[in-house]
Amino acid sequence: MPTLRTPLCDLLDIEVPILQAGMGLIAYADLAAAAANAGGLGCLGGIDMSVAEVDSNIRRFRELSDRPLALDLGFPQNAPSARADVVLPDPLPQPIRQLRAELEEMGIPVEDNVPDQAISRDDNLEKLDLALDQGVEVIVCGLGTPVEVVEKCHRRGATVMSIVGTSRAARKVIDNGTDVVIIQGTEGGGHSGEVGTLVLLAEVLDFATVPVVAAGGIATGAQVAGALVAGADGAWIGTRFIATAEAGCQQVYKEAVVDAGPNSTLRTPRFDGLHVRQLRNRFTDVWDGHEDEMQPYPVQRMITIPIRDAAAKNSVASHMNLAAGQAVGLINDLPSAGDIVRRLTEEAVAALWNSTKRIQFSD
Ligand SMILES: Cc1cc2nc3c(=O)[nH]c(=O)nc-3n(C[C@H](O)[C@H](O)[C@H](O)COP(=O)(O)O)c2cc1C
Repeated sequence: MPTLRTPLCDLLDIEVPILQAGMGLIAYADLAAAAANAGGLGCLGGIDMSVAEVDSNIRRFRELSDRPLALDLGFPQNAPSARADVVLPDPLPQPIRQLRAELEEMGIPVEDNVPDQAISRDDNLEKLDLALDQGVEVIVCGLGTPVEVVEKCHRRGATVMSIVGTSRAARKVIDNGTDVVIIQGTEGGGHSGEVGTLVLLAEVLDFATVPVVAAGGIATGAQVAGALVAGADGAWIGTRFIATAEAGCQQVYKEAVVDAGPNSTLRTPRFDGLHVRQLRNRFTDVWDGHEDEMQPYPVQRMITIPIRDAAAKNSVASHMNLAAGQAVGLINDLPSAGDIVRRLTEEAVAALWNSTKRIQFSD
C-alpha cells in the first residue's frame, strides 16, 4: 500500500490519516476493527450503546485488533440527566401518530421503551469512565466537549477529538482543551451545521492551535487529498462506511445509501430536534405541513425513537431514520471497510501525484 502520512498519524498512532466516524447503531467493533486493521482509525459509535454494549464492543475490538481504538460519546449541553426527566407531549404530534398507525397496519408493533443510553448524560459519563478504565486511546466528543471530560481523559492518558459544525464551536472546544478538532460541513450525515466543509475548514484553520480534521461529504481519495492540501490533517468519514460489509446496520439501510443520489438527503430537525442530515423517506416526509408540531431536543428524539427502532427491527426502510450525507451520490458499492481505507489511500496518493503533473506552479 502506498504511504500517506500527516502529523496526526503520529498523534493517534495510525498509518494513514483516514478516520472512520463513530456512527450510532452502525459503528460497532467489527467495523472499527476492519478500519483500524487497514491502517486507519477505528471508532465505536457509543452514543446509542448501553454501558454493557460499550464494554462488549471494546472487548471484541481488542480481540480483533491490536490497533488504537476510539469511542464516540455525546455530551450535549441540554441533554437530560436521565430519560425520566423528559416530559412527552400528550397527545403526541399528528405525524408520530400517523407513522405509528402505518407501522401497525403492516403488523409491526411500536414499543414505547426508549432506552436510557439513547438520551441521558449520566449514561454517557458512565461509558466514559468504563472506556478510560479499559484504556481506550481516543475519546471523540460528538455533541459538546465539557472541560471536565477533557481533563478526565488527559489525566487517564486518552486523546480527545471534538466534532464541531461552526467556527464558534471550534474556538470553544479548543479553549476547553481538545487535542484535535473535527470540522463537519453541512454535506455530512448525522448532526450538521449550515456551512460547507471547505469553508468551515478554512475558517477554523485560520485560528486553530491543534490539528484540524475535515469531515462532511468525503467519500473518494481525491477528496481526501483535497482536504489535506487545503490544510486538514486527516479525513473523518461516516457515510462511505455505512455501505460496507462490516457496518452494523440493516442491509436495507446499506442498499438505500448505494441507491441514493446526491439530492436524496435532507437536513432537518425531524429526528431529534437538532439538525440532522438524513435520507428523505416517509419518516421525514410525514412532517411536511406539520412543522409547527415538531418538538425541541430531546423531546423530538424521545418520540421518534420508538418508530425508528420498530422500523429498523423489521427492516422497513421507509420508516427508519436513515442518517446519511450528500456523499451518498458518490457511493455505488458495498465493499469491506478495509478495502475502503486502502482504496481511499491509493486514490489520494494518485490524486496528489497527478496534481503535480496536471497543475503547473512555481514559487
Ligand atoms: C448514520 C450516521 C450516524 C452518525 N452518528 C453519529 C454519532 O452517533 N455521533 C457522532 O459524533 N457523529 C455521528 N455522525 C456524524 C459522523 O461522526 C461524521 O461527522 C459524518 O458522518 C461525516 O460526514 P459524512 O457522513 O459525509 O462522511 C453520524 C453520521 C452518520 C452518517
